[in-house]
Amino acid sequence: MKRSKVLVTGGTGYIGAHTTVELQQAGFEVVVVDNLSNSTEDVIDGIEKITGERPRFYMADCSDLESFTRVFKEEEYFDAAIHFAAFKAVGESVREPLKYYRNNLQSLINLLLLTSESKKGAILFSSSCTVYGQPDKEHLPVREDAPLKKAESPYGLTKQMCEDILSDSSRAFGERIRIISLRYFNPIGAHKSALIGELPRGVPQNLLPFVTQTAIGKRDKLSVFGNDYSTPDGSCIRDYIYVCDLAKAHVAAVERMLFKPGEMESGIEYFNLGTGRGLSVLEVINEFEKATGVKVPYVIAPRREGDVEQVWADPSKANKTLGWRADTPIDEVMRSAWLWEQRLASNS
Ligand code: NAD
Ligand code: WQD
Repeated sequence: MKRSKVLVTGGTGYIGAHTTVELQQAGFEVVVVDNLSNSTEDVIDGIEKITGERPRFYMADCSDLESFTRVFKEEEYFDAAIHFAAFKAVGESVREPLKYYRNNLQSLINLLLLTSESKKGAILFSSSCTVYGQPDKEHLPVREDAPLKKAESPYGLTKQMCEDILSDSSRAFGERIRIISLRYFNPIGAHKSALIGELPRGVPQNLLPFVTQTAIGKRDKLSVFGNDYSTPDGSCIRDYIYVCDLAKAHVAAVERMLFKPGEMESGIEYFNLGTGRGLSVLEVINEFEKATGVKVPYVIAPRREGDVEQVWADPSKANKTLGWRADTPIDEVMRSAWLWEQRLASNS
């Protein structure tokens, strides 16, 4: 039987690479497009080592319609597209908003234009829990129908705007093109082979890379941004989801659009992807130390501007509808992140 062919934009990036692995292992043919603005081509080697299959790779910029069109021409068709390609640094988006609006919006618009030229299509979009901002207490854990809050950053606003663009497009496309928007909580960890993982540029802004870099001695100490929040231990709470569990949800969502389109509630659906369990910053440090036996020196620092106090997912819609669950134990997740950091250190 012919395999379904999936386009993965941003496929050499952190989540894209893990998703490519899961798609290939589930039997899909994968074509990766990336402009390598935040990744390197040797990620393709890592994917091939894990799965035994090299995905076809195009170095192309999705925000450039001409270069993106060439990929569609050469490949002739895609059964589905997963759109990871975007810039994602919150702080940078405040300093350079136009860079974010141009890349994140134009890339999606181009994908929609190219997909709309086919008779049929399926698009999976990488959205974020950032669309919920700080949910009111009665909306925690967060369900998909919780109100969206005013975005805290241009990056966050691009996710909301992209969801609006998708919803309007879905209305116009009707049944012809299926769309699912996946709202990720906080992805962490790396593939257990340590052949692919997260590659933060410069000083990491996200918690887990900072934890592992401190543990290995690359950083002196971790700053815990605030211990005076109204949470049980005073530090912020998030829903940390293992990147391979997250990747598997993409396989389930693609299968839903391709093989069970009649079950979709409408042309566009939204799912929260999280574990359903909130962990505080201090709990993350503790879980990491327990899982690895390595100490993480830290100090309590002032709150970080723009931080949400607490947010975690109610993933029951995804659990039920996609038949998916993020169930990798946290100690395994922490060890995968640590193994990856050690691998990076041994290569540098
Ligand atoms: P990443 O930076 O590792 O991956 C994104 C990839 O897209 C990179 O390889 C980059 O080179 C590529 N890219 C960017 N602009 C491009 C363009 N115009 N054309 C082609 N390639 C382009 O980021 P990630 O963590 O893997 O995130 C993937 C997606 O998930 C992004 O849309 C991000 O906003 C979203 N997301 C990430 C998180 C997170 O915490 N990592 C949380 C929620 C949502
Ligand atoms: C987690 C917690 C920090 C670093 C960001 C984006 C969001 C989404 C996910 C894409 C917070 C604390 C962190 C440190 C710390 N991305 N922290 N010391 O803030 O939930 O979300 O990534 O859509 O849009 O904003 O993730 O990993 O930065 O922080 O104490 O050195 O760790 O204050 O409470 P966040 P994060």
